[in-house]
Amino acid sequence: MSTHIGAAPGQIAETVLLPGDPLRARWIAETYLSDAECYSTVRNMLGYTGTYAGQRISVQGTGMGHPSLAIYAHELMAEYGVRTLVRVGSCGALSDRLAIRSIVLAITASTDSAMNRARFEGFDYAPAADFDLLRTAYDLATSTGMDAHVGPIVSVDAFYSERPELLKRLGEYGVLAIDMETNMLYTLAAKFGARALTVLTVSDHLQTGEETSAEERERTFTTMAELALDTVTRRA
Ligand code: HPA
Repeated sequence: MSTHIGAAPGQIAETVLLPGDPLRARWIAETYLSDAECYSTVRNMLGYTGTYAGQRISVQGTGMGHPSLAIYAHELMAEYGVRTLVRVGSCGALSDRLAIRSIVLAITASTDSAMNRARFEGFDYAPAADFDLLRTAYDLATSTGMDAHVGPIVSVDAFYSERPELLKRLGEYGVLAIDMETNMLYTLAAKFGARALTVLTVSDHLQTGEETSAEERERTFTTMAELALDTVTRRA
């Protein structure tokens, strides 16, 4: 096992879906994967491997925020040879082009996190999605009538912002939405020469103050999980 993932070598597939919530990882495994086996319960950050559309797929919870995601993404690539990572999560909308339940495919993610400032000694690195994954997901989403948007997002450290006016300004500069993990996912995928994509659904709108109910989040999570699974299996 690695430091934070209790899997033996070979137990994790080359392609991994990454929900923040470990119970979502279990739900995806139980709902969509055949012969799913749980390979890690360390810290209750559940991970499963099974089969979807004939392809071996794993699902690993990451927790919230850059530091937590970085631990799991790093170990998946460095210790288990993972090559394709797709985050499935929720986001707050900054743009009036988005509605509650819209799907966002993040092309890049700005950040206020200090992690990459340390990594690049103050230089501003622009991490990016894998273009083939992004194109596949967008084509699938639009061909099935989803309200999908491709664009830049921002990944912040603090969910409860002290600077809502700064988020508003980012929206004015074309940033579609806000999450807490994508900047680090794309950075680490680049470091390890792997492919990554973030697929998000809008759970709350920072302009209108609208929020989804728990029931709606459940329903939109289904759509997003299916899009992510279809995207990675089409690219196999
Ligand atoms: N901020 C940061 N992350 C989020 C939000 C938000 O408003 N909504 C869902 N994930």
